[in-house]
Amino acid sequence: MQRVELQIEETFAPRPVAVRQALQKGTEFLSQMGAASARLDAELLLSKALGCTKERLYLDYEMALETAVKDLYFSLLQRRARREPLAYITGEREFWSLRFHVTPEVLVPRPETELLVEVTLELAKRLEKNHPIKILDLGTGSGAIAVSLAKELDDIEVWATDLSAPALEVARSNALRHGGSEKIHFIEGDMFCPVRGQRGFFDMVVSNPPYVRQSELQNLAPEVRTWEPKLALVGGSDGLDFYRRIMEEADLYLTDRGIVALEIGADMGSDVCRLIASAGRFSPASVYQDYAGRDRVVVARKLPADAIY
Ligand SMILES: C[S@@+](CC[C@H](N)C(=O)[O-])C[C@H]1O[C@@H](n2cnc3c(N)ncnc32)[C@H](O)[C@@H]1O
Repeated sequence: MQRVELQIEETFAPRPVAVRQALQKGTEFLSQMGAASARLDAELLLSKALGCTKERLYLDYEMALETAVKDLYFSLLQRRARREPLAYITGEREFWSLRFHVTPEVLVPRPETELLVEVTLELAKRLEKNHPIKILDLGTGSGAIAVSLAKELDDIEVWATDLSAPALEVARSNALRHGGSEKIHFIEGDMFCPVRGQRGFFDMVVSNPPYVRQSELQNLAPEVRTWEPKLALVGGSDGLDFYRRIMEEADLYLTDRGIVALEIGADMGSDVCRLIASAGRFSPASVYQDYAGRDRVVVARKLPADAIY
C-alpha cells in the first residue's frame, strides 16, 4: 500500500480527530492522489459526512468527529481518491445558481453550458409571441438547460428529450425540485424522434450534444473518461455527428425565423458554422465565446421559405 494511504489509515484509527485535522489530512490525501481542488473536495466531503454546510466546518473547527462520521468521511475520501467525480459522491452540482441532483447516469452540468442558457434566454426574450415560447432541448441529461430556462421564463413550454431513460428520471427529479415540471415534457427517444409529429412547431431548438472526438476520450481527466456516461460524451470520430444530425432536421421542426442554439467544442466553431450553411435554410451563424474567451455557442435563425427561393 502507498505511504500516503497508510498515513490516512493512521489518521482514521480509533482515536479523536477534530474537524481541523480531518480537513488537513483529507486535503493532503486527495492532493497526493491527484485531485485538482483537494481542499475544496475535502471540505465538501466532510460537510456531506457531517450533514452540514461547508461554512459550518469552520465554526466547529476543533470539534471531535464521532466514529460513524469519521468512517463515512474516510469512505468518501477513498471514493474521491479513485477519481470518482465529486458531484457523483455528493449527488449534487450547482448550475445556474440551482442545485441539480446528479447521478452517474448523467453528465455533470458544466459552467460553460450556462452560456447556452444565457444566450437562449436573451433570444427568447426578444421573440414576439402571443403564446408560450416552445423550446426543444435535445439530449437534456440532468435537465440543466431545460429546468434553468423553465425557471427563468414564465411563458415557456419545453420538450426535453434524451435517449437515456435513467437520465430522464434525473431530469424529472430536478424539474420537481425547482418547480418547473408543469412547463417541461420529458420524452425518451433518439434526437427528433420523440417530436416527429411536431413539424414547424418549435420557436427554438437548443442542445448541448455529445461532442468529444472518439480518439480524444482517452486524453480526458479520469473523472470524465472513467465515470461519466460515454453516451453523453462521444460525438463520433470528428465529434460532429450530432451537429450533422441536428442540422439535417432542425429546419423541419422550427417555425419560420425559429432559432437553433448549440453548445460546441472550443475548436468546432467553423465546422459547425459550415454545417449550418450547408443546411441551406439558415441565416449565417453567430458564434459566442465563453468567459475563458473560447468559442462555445453557435446560433442561427431559420430563414422563412420566401427568403430562400
Ligand atoms: C453532453 S450531454 C448534455 C446533457 C445536458 N443537456 C447538459 O448540458 O448538461 C448529452 C446528452 O445527450 C444524450 N444523448 C446521447 N445520444 C442521444 C441521442 N441519440 N438522442 C437523444 N439524446 C442523446 C445523452 O444521454 C446526454 O444526456
